[in-house]
Amino acid sequence: MTYKFPKNFKWGSATSAHQVEGDNHNDWTVWEAQTADQRRLNAEKRRNEFSNSVLRSYPNPLQIENFISGKACDSYNRYEEDFDIAKKLNQNIHRFSIEWSRIEPEEGRFDEKEMQHYVSVVKALRERGIEPMITLWHFTNPIWFVKKGGFINLDSPKYFTRYVKYVVENLKDQVGLWITFNEATTVYSGFSYLMGVWPPQHRNIFEWRRVNKNMVAAHIAAYKEIRNIYSPADSFQEVRPRISQEVEPRGPSQMSHNVEVGIAEHGSYLNTNLIFRFLGVEKAFNYLYTNYLLRNVLPYCDFMGLNYYTHRRFFKKISQKVEIESDMGWEFYPEGIYRRLLDLKRFNRPIFITENGWPFVSDEFQLKVIKDNLFWINKAIQDGANIRGYLYWSLLDNFEWHLGYSKRFGLVEVDYKTFERRIRPSAYEYAKICKTNQLETDS
Ligand code: BGC
Repeated sequence: MTYKFPKNFKWGSATSAHQVEGDNHNDWTVWEAQTADQRRLNAEKRRNEFSNSVLRSYPNPLQIENFISGKACDSYNRYEEDFDIAKKLNQNIHRFSIEWSRIEPEEGRFDEKEMQHYVSVVKALRERGIEPMITLWHFTNPIWFVKKGGFINLDSPKYFTRYVKYVVENLKDQVGLWITFNEATTVYSGFSYLMGVWPPQHRNIFEWRRVNKNMVAAHIAAYKEIRNIYSPADSFQEVRPRISQEVEPRGPSQMSHNVEVGIAEHGSYLNTNLIFRFLGVEKAFNYLYTNYLLRNVLPYCDFMGLNYYTHRRFFKKISQKVEIESDMGWEFYPEGIYRRLLDLKRFNRPIFITENGWPFVSDEFQLKVIKDNLFWINKAIQDGANIRGYLYWSLLDNFEWHLGYSKRFGLVEVDYKTFERRIRPSAYEYAKICKTNQLETDS
């Protein structure tokens, strides 16, 4: 069967600064050094959970290097090589993030040289015919900002917006797709302030609420700032063609409060399904994670970014079949992306799939992840969802936060000793889809 995608549909992949650049100096690098030993010991205790292939690779979860971002993929220096690969794979959009701690290493001191680095990164993409999509914050914070309490501080929206203003003013003519925060209220606040997994490892429901509130406020303030930079007179038409010739919607103020709504998903199995429907639990969860958030943010959001990986089910025990396909404990459930996309339809905004992928198991499975998700995305398009592009997570294997390097999400394999890149066979298959703008399946 052939499934066609709309004309001008964008195809690409995504990364984030801390996960690929190397040599950062932020709250994560400090925390990694403090906790690496302990995290390695914990992994040692769970040794039998890891597959042999993971234990054979470098660094593996039993090695300290696994837990320290260090040089990462050295993409700070090798970005041109990375973009050559993206181009070779027929990609025409690329999402990456700017590292706040590089741009503003001390409070109020903006580093012109680092800014020029990102100007060069954007230029390198444009020269290869790849549309840049920039995330302004992807989980990491400058140390001075954390000393002030990070997003607990009531002034955090002000600090964040000041940084955003500086960056956008420097890149406004080259970039048309801005994302303020990556998974701020769906992943970050929970991991960092409720579950105590990520720095600063707090478990405090009041702090969690406050961080959520401040991040939403920061998004709104940044959104207004960006709009203002592009067009104080509110005449967007004039700048649109200069920003981007191809992506619809064009223009300066594409922003997304990036929502990972996969968490609201539940199983496809009849028993859990019926119970959820009956009890209205699905509705309650969607309300918490989607409605509440988007109602607040919606007027300040020109497109939506959906990151989808998996679903969560409750009452796992009563469902017969549990298909765990990754060593992150995730269940493979591509239909979930369809359900979330249809759910987002009611907000009436163009949607990009800003992340979708899986920790590498095998090339066959990586291709299945891509194809099955695209099948459901295509179905969502047929059913009226306004989807503009698909960005696979990730272009490269990279630093998977507290779990380290042993989780490999890349279309491209990275050798962490030599930094050599090796394109996986499944990436070439994805490249065919990108080129032809259509998905071919056997049945
Ligand atoms: C994050 C990425 C991460 C990916 C895979 C997303 O939640 O934005 O930074 O690597 O999930 O876990």
